[in-house]
Amino acid sequence: MKGVILAGGLGTRLLPLTRVTNKHLLPVYDRPMIYYPIQTLVEAGIRDILLVTGGNFAGDFLRLLGNGEAFGLDRVNYAYQDGEGGIAHALGQARVFSGGDPIVVVLGDNIVEDSIAPHVRAFEAQGRGARILLKEVDDPKRFGVVEISDGRVVGIEEKPIVPKSRYAVTGVYMYDGGVFEIIETLEPSERGELEITDVNNAYVRRGQMTYGVLDGWWTDAGTFESLHRAGELVAARSRASSERAFTG
Ligand code: G1P
Repeated sequence: MKGVILAGGLGTRLLPLTRVTNKHLLPVYDRPMIYYPIQTLVEAGIRDILLVTGGNFAGDFLRLLGNGEAFGLDRVNYAYQDGEGGIAHALGQARVFSGGDPIVVVLGDNIVEDSIAPHVRAFEAQGRGARILLKEVDDPKRFGVVEISDGRVVGIEEKPIVPKSRYAVTGVYMYDGGVFEIIETLEPSERGELEITDVNNAYVRRGQMTYGVLDGWWTDAGTFESLHRAGELVAARSRASSERAFTG
C-alpha cells in the first residue's frame, strides 16, 4: 500500500497567515501541520509516500522534510500541482507514483487521534473499490456528509445545507488503482474544482464503497477555529502521554 498526502491549495480561509507560507506548514501545537498526516501514514505501516503540493511555497516542504528522516523514511516523493484544481485534481498528480497499486490518501490538514492501521488492514482485505473513514460531528454542514441506509453509504453530499446525517467524511480515503480513470471523467463543480466527493460518489454508484468510523477524535485545521481546536487536541494528547510516561 502506498500513501499520498495532498497539501496544495491557497489556504484562503487562513489569510493573512497563508500570505507568506503554505497552510500545511503552519504550527499545530509543537510541530508543522504536515507532520501529522505523515505520522498517520507511517503509523499505519506505509513507507512509500508522495506529497502533492503547489503554489509559491512548495520548496519549503523539501527544506522542512528532506527525505523524511524525522519519520524514519529513506525517501519522500514530491509532486507539484499547477493551479487550483481542487482535491481530486491534486490526487490526479499521483497517477504515475501509484503505478496501479492501491493508495491511502490523507488531506494535509487532517489530524486523527488514533492509528488508522486497522482501517488500512480492512481495505487490504477488501481488495478493490474504495473505503472512507467517517466521524460523527456537531457541524456536518462544513464537510462531505454521508447518507447511510441499511449499513451502506448510498450517497455523499459536499457541504449540504440540510445534512442527511451527522457523519462527516474525513480526509482519509482509500482507493484501488481505478481512481485515476474516475478522476478523468470529472467535471469542475460550482466552485471550479474537481471534488473528491464526486470521486467517492462514483464508487458509491458502483457499489464498491465501504466505510469505517473513527473512535478517537478527528479534526481538520483549515479554518481559524479548527486550527485552534487542532492545537488544543494535540496539546492535550501530548500532556496525557507525558503523564502516562511519568506515572509509568
Ligand atoms: C474537504 C472535502 C470534504 C471533507 C473535508 C475533510 O473539504 O471536500 O468532503 O469532509 O475535506 O477535511 P475542504 O476542507 O477542502 O473544504
